[in-house]
Amino acid sequence: MKVIVTDKIADKGIELLKKEGYEVNEAWDIPKDELPKIVGDYDAIVIRSATKVKGNLLEAAKNLKVVGRAGIGLDNVDLKKCEERGITVRNTPNATTDTVAELALAFMFALARKVVKGTTTLRKGEWAKKQLKGLELGGKTLGIVGCGRIGSALARKCHALGMKIVGCRRRGEINEACVDQCEINDVFTNADYLSLHLPLTPETKHIINKDAIAKMKDGVFIINCARGGTIDENALYEAIKSGKVAGAALDVWEKEPVELESSKKLLELENVIGSPHIGAMTAEGQERAGIQVAEAVIEELKKL
Ligand code: MLT
Repeated sequence: MKVIVTDKIADKGIELLKKEGYEVNEAWDIPKDELPKIVGDYDAIVIRSATKVKGNLLEAAKNLKVVGRAGIGLDNVDLKKCEERGITVRNTPNATTDTVAELALAFMFALARKVVKGTTTLRKGEWAKKQLKGLELGGKTLGIVGCGRIGSALARKCHALGMKIVGCRRRGEINEACVDQCEINDVFTNADYLSLHLPLTPETKHIINKDAIAKMKDGVFIINCARGGTIDENALYEAIKSGKVAGAALDVWEKEPVELESSKKLLELENVIGSPHIGAMTAEGQERAGIQVAEAVIEELKKL
């Protein structure tokens, strides 16, 4: 069996694939537009978020039977085409749950205590202590839009800090005792901190828009470690400028790497902090994802 790994995964994952006797091409340095020329030989492809298993790459992958995605989101895989062609797609839904939840929590603390402003003013030689009076998380309400695995992990951490948690999810019950499950509009109206944990679909695109923000408390903080595009960046910009939203922390952007004017405008605002889609990027999380994706690919290839 031949496996091509087109985005770097943890060494332990590569070792597992090799131990099975598969021929493994560690192809992450090959420019993505050259992959269609070589992918035709492979039975399995292992990716993270950079490789798009869609369009001409998927067309060219004539022998492909398994896609392994080290990570959660499958928006870079054409699931419909894969299903039509009988290609199995596996991701690692449990590998980075706490990893992403911890970043959301780090963002909440950073917004509440103005950590980034503290650093930037110090770097400029300023002692801005009087401008840096913050807020506490304890006693506040966290609203979770999309209270699945990651949302629930965040809820447990925030509950331990003395926060009240309200949450909603599109389908099913929230199985977390500390979360008060309610309708999305109740999450909007009650939250002091609103954190998004849902995929980008036609249904969730711009779920945080002008109307949704109008329902929120004045001074709400918004955190997005899920997917860009779930927030209408222009609406968020206007709401922060007007003071309706006190601040936002964004790990994900409508277009990545950041390129849209709407994202750039947000980054000019002092009370917006951000990062380049690092939610799953910890040593521990990447190791778990690398191992779990390799195990999933091996499991599927063994079925053939
Ligand atoms: C994921 O879906 O696993 C995360 O967003 C990480 C990523 O895609 O880089």
